Amino acid sequence: MFITLEGPEGSGKSSQLPALADFLRDEGYQVIVTREPGGTAVGDQIREVLMNLKNVSIIPRTEILLFLAARAQHVEELIRPSLAAGKIVLCDRYGDSTLAYQGYGHKKDLPTLRSLLAYATGGLKPDLTLLIDVPVKEGLVRKRDNASEWNRLDAYDLAFHERVRLGYFALAEEEPNRWLVIDARKDKEEVQQAMRKAVKQRLEQT
Ligand code: TYD
Repeated sequence: MFITLEGPEGSGKSSQLPALADFLRDEGYQVIVTREPGGTAVGDQIREVLMNLKNVSIIPRTEILLFLAARAQHVEELIRPSLAAGKIVLCDRYGDSTLAYQGYGHKKDLPTLRSLLAYATGGLKPDLTLLIDVPVKEGLVRKRDNASEWNRLDAYDLAFHERVRLGYFALAEEEPNRWLVIDARKDKEEVQQAMRKAVKQRLEQT
């Protein structure tokens, strides 16, 4: 089972992942926790290029291809083999981030992005995607309060992040069976419970 977490900046999704993984392990599942960009040695090197505050000259097409290059490696090296071994893969961001950020955020052509995405992933889509949603301003304040997490990609303007958030809503509406929207303004424990419930339900369906 392939589960992805998506959301705008500062939704707290990354900090929820370890507890979700522990819960599933206690239920007897083998769980892999990973993230994008990254998840492999090559992917982590690409991540470093993407996040580096010094790389102000990266143009949008380069950025797209770097995200997709990291993803192609991730899918072949880690995600597919783990799924084939019967494990649950919990991935912090995946293809929908490209559609939300590069597509809706940077207004790059969505059909082109979708076909590049299909090429990079060999068509692998998540079984379940949790949208951990937070209003843009709240999310950015949370992130700025934690300066060590601030990176090149957070520095885009507010309107950009608003488009990303609305993009996520549009994607979720397109495939309501794959997506579940969780309000991250609730307290952490409630968010965690909602995530567990959604994952359990999906596991019971398969
Ligand atoms: P990260 O520090 O991992 O942020 P977060 O904790 O919000 O997940 O940085 C990932 C950044 O990369 C984030 O700003 C979203 C962006 N991103 C894209 O723009 N496109 C993509 O395809 C992916 C995977 C991430």
